[in-house]
Parts: sequence; structure tokens; C-alpha cells
Amino acid sequence: MEWTTRVTEKFGIKYPIIQGGLAHLAYSDLCAAVSNAGGLGQITAMSLKSPEALREEIRKVKQLTDQPFGVNFAIGQRGRPYAHMVDAALEEGVEVMSITGGNPTPFFEQLKDTNVKKLVLVAAKRQAEKAEELGADAVMVVGQEGGGHLGRDDIGTMVLTPQVVDAVSIPVIASGGIGDGRGWMAAHALGAEGIEMGTRFIATKECIHASEAYINALLSSDETNTTVIKRTLGAPARALINPWTEKILQMESENADYEALKDYISGEANQKFIYDGDDEKGYGWAGQVTGLIQDVPSVDELFKRMVKEAEEIREKWNFG
Ligand SMILES: Cc1cc2nc3c(=O)[nH]c(=O)nc-3n(C[C@H](O)[C@H](O)[C@H](O)COP(=O)(O)O)c2cc1C
Repeated sequence: MEWTTRVTEKFGIKYPIIQGGLAHLAYSDLCAAVSNAGGLGQITAMSLKSPEALREEIRKVKQLTDQPFGVNFAIGQRGRPYAHMVDAALEEGVEVMSITGGNPTPFFEQLKDTNVKKLVLVAAKRQAEKAEELGADAVMVVGQEGGGHLGRDDIGTMVLTPQVVDAVSIPVIASGGIGDGRGWMAAHALGAEGIEMGTRFIATKECIHASEAYINALLSSDETNTTVIKRTLGAPARALINPWTEKILQMESENADYEALKDYISGEANQKFIYDGDDEKGYGWAGQVTGLIQDVPSVDELFKRMVKEAEEIREKWNFG
């Protein structure tokens, strides 16, 4: 069957499936596996310590695949500098870059006279319109089911996607809550021309840095086992419920400010759980789709399964 959309055409990929940036998890192995399976893999620049480390990771990807891949920049609300990382990616010849989490204007300025394809991950219609205005090649839109950082308005993927499709003319990629061929086809029915998945890719063989405890938590969770932290800081983000996130929520309910919360929500605390498996000292991002995750396939097995599921749906409903 054909899977061509404007997303496959623009990014030169077989299936319109994009692996989301995954802080501290999306390195060369996962990125290359996704690209080799026919999707668009990404490495997450801001998890790397320096432009040199990013260069090295990009070179590793190129050794593992000759397929297109991207570099993701989650710039955060607090404006960590990233222009030097974009320069490194440019010098390494990266052809696709994605950005999320802050004002993307300087990013577009920096890439103005290049041929880099630009993706923006947004969580609201107005942000999608802004991304289009700035010159994004496609917009990824994440609903409140998703793992990691979300919009402030709690709008689900099912409602957000068609609204964004109606509001912009660039291709829309649906994200948040997608983990199998059913979610993929639902996204197309909503008008999306591709999907982005985050949580599902953590439970794959090539996501080699995720601790056993993190993977086991994803496998044993149902759809009720995630919660939204950092809401009181204006930066809501979905994580697995564990003793550490319970503590954060309790502090937030007692009006703790950023200073009081910063060690609890830090990248270090994130790594304590996702690398070391310590749920008394750290947290792990995950979306509600964790309820659908029951195994740890290779990325290639996951793609084959999703394609089969999607083909069955197309046949059943006569989608051609
Ligand atoms: C562990 C984890 C880390 C994430 N880190 C990033 C990141 O660094 N950059 C980014 O653009 N998005 C990040 N996200 C969001 C994902 O790229 C994607 O938008 C989201 O996971 C989609 O929802 P899903 O988890 O239901 O698939 C992260 C998500 C998770 C689960």
C-alpha cells in the first residue's frame, strides 16, 4: 500500500511516522533505527553537553543509516542558549531540525538562508499559526494525552488536530496518545498527514538508555498511571505517577515556587529514574498511551506491526 502524504514527500521518508524528541533518551541508536524502519528518527540536541557531543552523535547516526533524520531542540521556557548547537548541526549537514518549548523566532532567523526543513512542535492552534507564519515546513501538534511537556489548556489530540488542520495550510502531524496502527489511522482521519510518537518508542529495543524500572513501569501501567506535574509553574508536563511525582504534586498544592521545586523537576532527577530506576528520587515522562504498551519490540518490528494494523483498517473501511 502507498503511504505518501506531504510529510513523506517533504522529509523523504517511507512512512509518515516521526519519532519525537525524547530528552536523555533519543540518541543515535534509536534515531537510526526509526529512520531505517522508514520513519524520521531524531536525536535530542539539548540532552547533549556540548556542540562537540552533538557533532559526534550526528556522525554516529550517519554511520548507522543513510536515511533522513532530524535533530530536535527543546529550548524550554527558561531560554537555555542553543544557537551554538544549531550551528553544530548545520555544519554537520543536518537536513531536518525541530523545535519546541519556547519562542521559535530566533531559530527561524538562524536557519533563514539554509535548506533545512523546519518542524515545530506546538500544543495550541495559535502556536501552529505562528509556526506557519514563521515558515515551518510542517507542524506537529501534541494533545494533552502526550508524554512530556504539554499545552496549558488541556486539549486532547482528537479535538486539537482537526482544528489545527483547518487553521493552517502546511502539513499537520498529530502527536499525543498514539501507539499503534489504530491511532495512526485515526490521525489521518482527523486530517493529519503524519504522526509523532514519543512514549511508544521508549519501550523499544533500541532505546538502550532507559532503565529496566522505567520500561517495566511503562509495561505495567494502565492509562490512569500518569499525572501532570509543573502545572503551577505554567509548564504542565505528563509523567508516570511514582513517589517522586506525588511529592512534586504535594509541593505544588502547597504553592511551592520554582526555587523550591527546581531540584525536584530537574534533568538530574529525571535521569535518576530513567537511567538509574530510582522512583524515590526521580521521575520519568510518559503519556497516557503507556496503557497500550505491552511489549518491547525492535523499532522495525513495531513499524511492521503498525503498518499491518493500518492496512487492515484501510481494507476494512475501504480507504484504498
Ligand atoms: C520521555 C519523554 C521525553 C521528551 N522529551 C522531548 C524533547 O526533548 N523534545 C521534544 O520536542 N519533545 C519531547 N517529548 C515529547 C515527545 O516528543 C512527543 O511530543 C510526545 O511524547 C507525544 O506524546 P506520546 O508520548 O503520547 O507519544 C518528550 C516525551 C517523552 C515521553
